Amino acid sequence: MNDFEFHNPVKIFFGKNQILKIAGQIPSKANIMLLYGGGSILKNGVYDKVKRGLKDFKVTEFGGIEPNPTYETSMKAVEIIKEKKIDFLLAAGGGSVVDATKFIAAAALFENGDPWKILSLTEPVKASLPFGVILTLPATGTEMNKNSVISRKSTIEKFAFSSPYSFPLFSILTPEAAATLPRNQVANGIVDAYVHVIEQYLTYPVNAPIQDRFAEAILITLIEEGPKAYANPADYDAMANLMWSATMALNGIIMCGVPGDWSVHSIGHELTALHGIDHARTLAVVLPGLWKVLKEEKGQKLLQYGRRVWNITEGTEEQRIDAAIEKTAEFFESLGIRTRLSDYEVKQDTIEEIVRRFEDRKWLELGDRGLTTPEATRKALEYQL
Ligand code: NZQ
Ligand code: ZN
Repeated sequence: MNDFEFHNPVKIFFGKNQILKIAGQIPSKANIMLLYGGGSILKNGVYDKVKRGLKDFKVTEFGGIEPNPTYETSMKAVEIIKEKKIDFLLAAGGGSVVDATKFIAAAALFENGDPWKILSLTEPVKASLPFGVILTLPATGTEMNKNSVISRKSTIEKFAFSSPYSFPLFSILTPEAAATLPRNQVANGIVDAYVHVIEQYLTYPVNAPIQDRFAEAILITLIEEGPKAYANPADYDAMANLMWSATMALNGIIMCGVPGDWSVHSIGHELTALHGIDHARTLAVVLPGLWKVLKEEKGQKLLQYGRRVWNITEGTEEQRIDAAIEKTAEFFESLGIRTRLSDYEVKQDTIEEIVRRFEDRKWLELGDRGLTTPEATRKALEYQL
């Protein structure tokens, strides 16, 4: 097992009737900004509950945060925060609202010029406003991690940052509110969480059996419970299991002491930036392609994954690896998530653009052992044309 440090300070409230507890979690004199997206919280009861919970506080609202939240919208919130001297943020919605809030919280206290530097990774975050989260969509794990992903319209880019200052103070997880999710968003959530586990698990063996077993448990739970939540988002038990699986998939626990990859995400972010494809759908395209390229290098873990998660025990090693890749793509397709670039009308010119961007940024050896070179990226995407 590799050396590691682990710290996760996020206080979790999970389940029904938890939102009213917010008042007790926020300093009594706080001047709050409530941030939300395009209005889903107005329809699923979350907004009313939050307003009730915050009746004794001064609250400024900032709605309209878009899926794949932008730097441009975030900076409008920063302006209002400075003007109104807001000192506590509350995000209510999916990963996009939470990620925007993380960036806004850091940008509001950023002292070294343009806060875009946080995303271009030229300046670290040194401070952040405190913030809480009410999560209504199981997918990203952002509710219990320190990461944020922001897009910039003017340059058609999508970048992530990670900072110990960007952990939420608390997160309230509401499977009940997720009942109003459109089924395609539930499918997105299942696939995003699934690929988060894969990015931390499917590298190479380092004799870390507890991490492997945790990861496999999350994958198997997503395979068993995900389709129930997809069939009926109002199935509370299934949605609760999906929500907690998605949180566990990216809260730092399964990444302790093991190598990570994350190149599927890096390539996927380009497909979102260039074509606006939902995050999870980009991952469902890239993952099978990259596995086909790195079959040999990731062979041992692919065999273990096939055996323990999909019960694949017959055939030669190569046949079992191919079957594991096939099963994964079939699972995504069973949730209505297409796995080919042609399904999204993406062609060779986009592959060339992604490879060019990686070369320009000197992203020459991404992922586990630096295996995801620009050439491997090209091949992976060409497999999925
Ligand atoms: O905007 P509203 O009206 O709230 O509607 C949203 C949005 O249209 C809707 N929605 C959310 N909860 C709902 C609901 N509709 C009905 N009922 C509910 N209960 O769902 C739509 C999608 O929401 P969004 O927040 O964009 O989805 P998700 O949670 O999947 O977040 C995706 C973003 O997270 C980033 C992605 O790149 C993408 O930008 N990620 C963040 C990560 C992190 N911070 O650790 C890791 C991930 O890998 C990912 O990259
Ligand atoms: Zn993701």
